[in-house]
Amino acid sequence: MLDGEIIGQGSSSLVVVRNESRSSKKVITAFKCFLCEKGNVRKRKLYEKEVQALQRLNHSNIVTYYGCNESNGLLAIEIEYCERGNLQKIIYDQKYVYSITTVLTWAKQLFSALSYLHQERNIVHRDVKPANIFVSKDFHLKLGDFGCVRQLEATSTGTLVGTQRYMSPRMKSKEEPYKVSKRNDVYGAGLVLWEMVERRSVFDEYTLDRNFDANNFYIDIFTKKLTALKPPDCFDELKELIVITTNFDQKQRPSASRVLAQLKEIIEVGPS
Ligand SMILES: Nc1ncnc2c1ncn2[C@@H]1O[C@H](COP(=O)(O)OP(=O)(O)OP(=O)(O)O)[C@@H](O)[C@H]1O
Ligand SMILES: [Mg+2]
Repeated sequence: MLDGEIIGQGSSSLVVVRNESRSSKKVITAFKCFLCEKGNVRKRKLYEKEVQALQRLNHSNIVTYYGCNESNGLLAIEIEYCERGNLQKIIYDQKYVYSITTVLTWAKQLFSALSYLHQERNIVHRDVKPANIFVSKDFHLKLGDFGCVRQLEATSTGTLVGTQRYMSPRMKSKEEPYKVSKRNDVYGAGLVLWEMVERRSVFDEYTLDRNFDANNFYIDIFTKKLTALKPPDCFDELKELIVITTNFDQKQRPSASRVLAQLKEIIEVGPS
């Protein structure tokens, strides 16, 4: 199962590409492989959760699911291969030159995926960041890595999962249970838009030894030294959209569908 070229490595998996025959056609697909030593319940759960979510999804900006497989302690998910790798790579590689019009198109694709997840599937992704957004050969964005997803119930509470730099700051006291919220995906996507424009890591003043310095970040938020993300350098309508989606107070953030509608309007009228 692990044959094939390795194209990515995450905290819990190794991703390889392989040539497959699919209804007499040759296609290249990606296999996300989890090495699951006997009794490793955590990894099996991650795998099962991701399979269950992907099986229910069908959207042009979400990575397509083909199937899953288990052999000799190796669990694998077969998904659409996105030739350009992840969005983080594109943002940081100066070899890729892209315009603000492309940023708007990508923003529309990302919020279209989120709006579908939230409205039509009632699912929260919980780990929206450039490394979890994949890019097809023709530069279409595909939201991937559903290892942290949560199906929402009426009053879902949960543990904190995701990637700290892209996680919505909590404004409430520690005693209050953490609520799983669609608006936290909106926050992560807002930060992704900021990075698309700025082409550097968001909150990089809080980077310590290449990792995110969450302690100092939260101290600055609680002492009100940091009250908002510094707006990116771009035209007003997009700047405004990034400011509202990344508001530290989740109640002030719009829904993904609302943002999508605004983006469509901006694209129609054109940047000012
Ligand atoms: N379908 C795909 N097409 C192209 N590249 C992919 C694909 N799936 C994954 N990758 C690459 O592999 C990397 C790791 O994949 P993924 O994020 O799904 O794994 P993970 O173990 O859940 O990661 P982590 O927990 O570290 O976020 C991605 O950032 C991307 O570069
Ligand atoms: Mg990932």
